[in-house]
Amino acid sequence: MDPVRNPYAPGAGQRPPELAGRGRELDVFDVVLERIARGRPERSLMLTGLRGVGKTVLLNTLRSQAINHLWGTGKIEARPDQSLRRPVAAALHMAVRELAPRHRAPDRIEAFLGVLKAFAQRAVPAGRGGAAPKLRDRWQPGIDVPASSGRADSGDIEIDLVELLTDAAAVATDVGTGIAIFIDEMQDLGAEDVSALCAACHELSQLGAPLIVVGAGLPHLPAVLSAAKSYSERLFRYQRIDRLDRIAADQALCAPAEREEVEYEQKALDLLYEKSGGYPYFVQAYGKATWDHAPRSPITAADVRVAAPEAEAELAVGFFGSRFERATPAEREYMRAMATLALVDGEESGRDDMDAAVPTAEIARALGRKPASLSPARDALIKKGLIYSGERGTVAFTVPHFGRYLRTQPA
Ligand SMILES: Nc1ncnc2c1ncn2[C@@H]1O[C@H](COP(=O)(O)OP(=O)(O)OP(=O)(O)O)[C@@H](O)[C@H]1O
Ligand SMILES: [Mg+2]
Repeated sequence: MDPVRNPYAPGAGQRPPELAGRGRELDVFDVVLERIARGRPERSLMLTGLRGVGKTVLLNTLRSQAINHLWGTGKIEARPDQSLRRPVAAALHMAVRELAPRHRAPDRIEAFLGVLKAFAQRAVPAGRGGAAPKLRDRWQPGIDVPASSGRADSGDIEIDLVELLTDAAAVATDVGTGIAIFIDEMQDLGAEDVSALCAACHELSQLGAPLIVVGAGLPHLPAVLSAAKSYSERLFRYQRIDRLDRIAADQALCAPAEREEVEYEQKALDLLYEKSGGYPYFVQAYGKATWDHAPRSPITAADVRVAAPEAEAELAVGFFGSRFERATPAEREYMRAMATLALVDGEESGRDDMDAAVPTAEIARALGRKPASLSPARDALIKKGLIYSGERGTVAFTVPHFGRYLRTQPA
């Protein structure tokens, strides 16, 4: 069928033609926004899930929802080895700028921007390496108000963040709304920053201040947060973003097709679900290839079968390969051992998805190495976001079907 009219959108953060199966999350967030605007206590939200399940897309949708409620919003993508200070300043700047036109006292906005600027300009405190601030540390936020002093500029991120977020929330209170800061890839924040963020959320919730953080990250994000502050388990509301069930996966395929007056035969949908396992990225990838190959509506199972190798080839490059290439030879060896053991465990426990968590001790045994000698490879893979440790002493792939992919790769 006409590839120009192909509605499907495989790709990182690509808005799907139909956001299927996330009604509950959207409803929950509506209630959160309403409650906070009325001064009711609410917890910040954390979305967790594997790669490609749609965390970024959902985060962006929640942000639109907040904007529709006239909230101020800003978004950050955390990166390993990058401090939170500059990005959070930029996100709050954006959020407050959205609220400013509705504020009756411009001097209150200016006072806040002065604090924001001081916060942003606060360089890494001397004594940590003692080196002169690098160019990027002298970054000037586009704020044409002089930096104030004595607030949010101590250099201690925990103190400063609490003060800054409290002040931002006060601006939102003035205009009768709230501020939401969205943080993607949140597991990549440094330990100090995570701690500071938890402390700030804790303080804000005690004050009943209308500012929330909405985070998204890999399945071990809850562990990262509770390692920073033990109270974080009670501080955040965790929502596991998972693969789509059959009804939602069918809807993700059928609703956009219907708008183009194209239909699927039932058998085609059966096969597409079998191939995608309901993982949103795969739903889009198989949907896209199938559309391009199908000569006419309705789309048949035979069309899916013809198109599948192309979808798989594209996934092998774009989804799996790009990640696999980030690993060193030693890390690849580690993951191969994981993939083999996951298959065995999966078969033994009769799981359909053969990417089970694997005990690290078994990996060491399979590779004939001491567990401690494999720690660097494991830690590097966690840092690269390829594997995670959900339970102590085990590791699993962050990428769905990654084990299956590795088992088809020549060593
Ligand atoms: N609810 C949904 N219905 C249909 N398709 C979806 C849905 N959510 C996401 N997708 C599609 O899945 C793909 C992956 O989405 P997204 O990039 O948001 O995942 P992610 O969880 O952020 O992945 P990563 O961990 O790699 O960042 C995109 O192509 C998107 O269009
Ligand atoms: Mg993402």
